[in-house]
Parts: sequence; structure tokens; C-alpha cells
Amino acid sequence: MRWLITGAGGMLGQDLCTVLAEAGADGVLPATRAALDITDAAAVRAAVAGVDVVVNAAGWTDVDGAEAAEDAATAVNGHAVRVLAEAAGARLFHISTDYVFDGTATAPYPEDAEPAPINAYGRGKLAGEEAVLANGGYVVRTAWLYGVHGRNFVRTMLRLAGERESVDVVADQEGPPTWSYALAGQVVALAGAAAAGRAAPGAYHGTAAGQTSWYGLARAVFAEAGLDPARVRPTTSDRFPRPAPRPTYSVLGHERWSGTGVPALPHWRTMLTTAMASLPAP
Ligand SMILES: NC(=O)c1ccc[n+]([C@@H]2O[C@H](COP(=O)([O-])OP(=O)(O)OC[C@H]3O[C@@H](n4cnc5c(N)ncnc54)[C@H](OP(=O)(O)O)[C@@H]3O)[C@@H](O)[C@H]2O)c1
Repeated sequence: MRWLITGAGGMLGQDLCTVLAEAGADGVLPATRAALDITDAAAVRAAVAGVDVVVNAAGWTDVDGAEAAEDAATAVNGHAVRVLAEAAGARLFHISTDYVFDGTATAPYPEDAEPAPINAYGRGKLAGEEAVLANGGYVVRTAWLYGVHGRNFVRTMLRLAGERESVDVVADQEGPPTWSYALAGQVVALAGAAAAGRAAPGAYHGTAAGQTSWYGLARAVFAEAGLDPARVRPTTSDRFPRPAPRPTYSVLGHERWSGTGVPALPHWRTMLTTAMASLPAP
């Protein structure tokens, strides 16, 4: 299969390229932003024309920045995705987010739950999802990603552990910490299942099983690193005001994987142990 990976320079994009290289895939076009700006409609149509699978890992990911620049964020996360979706149809595997939901649920959001974003980033991502689904493509919603590339919570905690005696971390948001490399493997497997006729287009949830708070994750990171988890202290989100409101509950259900032959991702805690063995020292 010939693959186009957009956003190939990002945290997930780099892991997608790694997974494909490890699988021995040839014909992979790793399109960084410099190589393919997805807001360039003509370039997108030309790039999509020659490939069998498109994974869109490109996105405006500055959640707080989107509040003051919603049009610019939606140009990338909504309008550009519509062009991709119209060009690629069922060949498109698009990465979306738990932020399309409002976070008021008390049980995991199923794949067909009603979206109701509470911030500008979520509204733009929802516009992208709607375009993909209307054109018969695949949406993979993820959340709370961390990995070896780029800035992310796990790497930040490892860095802060070396700089401070204690770290205050919010304990009033719940989610599924998810290793971007594991998600990359799942997305590649989903494309394989789709090619084999085992996975219908639509929305899938690419998040770890289980849930914890950012505080719980930080304690687990310290424990995995052989540090005292008591150095992490719980606090509340109102101590860290940010421009974009966050959903307080970001746990997603995984029913749609059954029947595809692609396993749902493992529990976040075992995943963290595996992941941290591969993270470089901060
Ligand atoms: N990180 C999370 O916790 C999380 C949670 C839920 C969903 N997601 C979704 O997962 C996907 C991947 O995110 P990530 O965590 O890997 O973020 P990331 O590291 O910020 O990667 C996003 C990539 O998209 C690129 N990009 C931005 N605008 C572009 C454009 N107009 N054309 C082409 N490329 C563009 C960025 O390039 P520059 O760096 O040069 O701007 C960056 O390389 C995104 O769709 C995001 O919404 C992430």
C-alpha cells in the first residue's frame, strides 16, 4: 500500500512513520508541514491522488491559542480536513479528539455519543470530523497523548522532577493517558483491517483503557522513574486558569474495535510502563 502521512513532523506523525518503517512498509510519503501544508487545497489533492491510505496527523494543536484565533485553527482542523476528506473518501484515517465532547458524562463516551465541544479547538475538530464522516472516511479520536517526540505531559513531569522538589498537578480532570506509538500501531492496523473489509468507515476511539487524573498520571510517572510519588501534590484546575475550558471527563469507550480484528489499546498503567522504557532521559 502507498501511504501519505500528513503532519509527519508531529508527535504522532513521527510515531506513525516509525511504525510503518518497522513494519517494512515501502511507499510511505512522510509529509511534514514544510512538505505539505494541508491548507493548500491544490497540493493536498495532488498528494492524495497517488496513494492508497492517507493518515491525517496534521492539526492545529494549540488548544489555548485557538480561543483567540478560532478561524485560523478551524482553517486547519476543519476546512483543510474537508478538502482532504473530499479527495480521499474512504482512504482517509483522520485523527480527532475527546474535546469534541463536553466532558459532563460519568461513563465512557461511546463512539456514537453526541458531540458538544466546549472550546474553539473542539469546535474546529468537530467540523473536521463531520467532513470525514460525510465523505465515508475513518475518524480515530484520541486523548491525553504522550510519547518520545515533542512536548508532552510525561516528558514535562520527568523534566520537572529534576528541577523541583515537589510538583503541583491537577486532580480534577479524568482521562486515558495514551502512548502515541501504541496509537500509531493501532491506526496502521485499522487501515489494514479496512483494506481487508473488516472495518467499516466511521468513528473509532484510539485511547488507552482505564482512566486517571493528571495527578494520578504524574504519580505513576514518578513511580516508574524510581522517584517518590509523594513529591507530586494534588491541586485543582482553578489554580491554573487557562483561556480554553477543558472537559473534566475525557474517558472514551472502545466497542467499535470488536469484529475488526484490531485490539483496543491496553490499560493506561501497563502502557505507561512499556512506554517509559523507550523514553529518553529528560
Ligand atoms: N496531543 C494530544 O494529547 C492529542 C489529544 C487528542 C487529539 N490529538 C490530535 O492528534 C493529532 C496529532 O497531534 P500531535 O499530538 O501529534 O500534535 P503535534 O505534535 O502538534 O503535531 C501536529 C503536526 O501538525 C502540523 N501542522 C500544523 N498545521 C499544519 C498545516 N497547516 N499543514 C500541515 N501540517 C500542519 C504541525 O506542524 P508545526 O509543528 O510546524 O506547526 C505538527 O507537526 C492532531 O490531530 C491532534 O488534534 C492530540
